[in-house]
Amino acid sequence: MARTLAGMHILITGASAGIGAALARQLASEGAILALMARRRDRLAALAQDLGPLHLVLPGDVGREEDCRAAVAAAFQAWGRLDTLVCNAGYGLHRGVGDTATADWDAIWRTNLLGTAWCIQAALPRLRAQEPRDGWRAQVMVVSSVLARRAAPLGAAYSATKAAQLSLCEALRVELAAERIAVTSVHPVGTDSEFAEAAAQHGGARWHVGRREPRQSTATVARAMVRGIRRPRAEVWPAWWARWAVALGTLLPGLADRAMATRLAEAGRGGQTAPLP
Ligand SMILES: NC(=O)c1ccc[n+]([C@@H]2O[C@H](COP(=O)([O-])OP(=O)(O)OC[C@H]3O[C@@H](n4cnc5c(N)ncnc54)[C@H](OP(=O)(O)O)[C@@H]3O)[C@@H](O)[C@H]2O)c1
Repeated sequence: MARTLAGMHILITGASAGIGAALARQLASEGAILALMARRRDRLAALAQDLGPLHLVLPGDVGREEDCRAAVAAAFQAWGRLDTLVCNAGYGLHRGVGDTATADWDAIWRTNLLGTAWCIQAALPRLRAQEPRDGWRAQVMVVSSVLARRAAPLGAAYSATKAAQLSLCEALRVELAAERIAVTSVHPVGTDSEFAEAAAQHGGARWHVGRREPRQSTATVARAMVRGIRRPRAEVWPAWWARWAVALGTLLPGLADRAMATRLAEAGRGGQTAPLP
């Protein structure tokens, strides 16, 4: 059965920019009631003002467990339930394994993986206790990446966090199935957002984009996520062909290595970088 978006209560982390903001706009236009979390309060406030008076602004850093708990608690306090928790906040790091310092590993792990786990753990007891709506008690949606299934050169730390998010989802989906709580991982390919700029701000290079790499818009990713919220499923692949490409790469890792070597050669030459928004 399809879930009704109108009146659905949804918390989105990383809602101040990119995929999270695009998702918020599409869900609000369908009548969903949103809680918007990210660190930049001004951005969230401007977005909420655009979307209408019903939505909550929850400034916070997912890299701090207490902020995750506070955001989830604020949503339950306001609404008494949460239909979908979207763990989207995250950033990339464009740096070779040999140059990735312990502090870089710690920081990206904390935001991308622990920030996801902490929000889920904070919500779970309340999700388990609430009554089903349209056949589902709730949904957890995690924005991972195509790189969860095939790491990018100069992106090991980031790719590892995305693979870990996928592992978390695969385990959790089965743990929660009997309770009618859906778990959905999302696997975008390169998406035009503030991602490249944010990666540079974290001390790496700007995230490299290969010359022949296809790009997608945040609106395209958000549309696929909305479909996955309306009809919960295990995985959302906004670019359908990417799923088959990584499956082929798993069967033929040498072929995938050669494709990735082209990317590495371009990046090494200071090849094309992602356009700034
Ligand atoms: N763009 C791509 O090519 C691509 C591809 C595959 C997957 N993804 C994934 O998609 C998700 C969204 O990325 P995007 O492309 O939309 O990038 P973006 O435009 O840079 O947006 C990232 C969002 O995450 C928030 N965020 C980052 N660190 C945070 C923290 N510690 N606490 C709370 N919020 C935080 C940012 O808000 P504040 O800075 O205001 O906190 C922002 O709202 C990420 O998980 C990313 O890994 C992106």
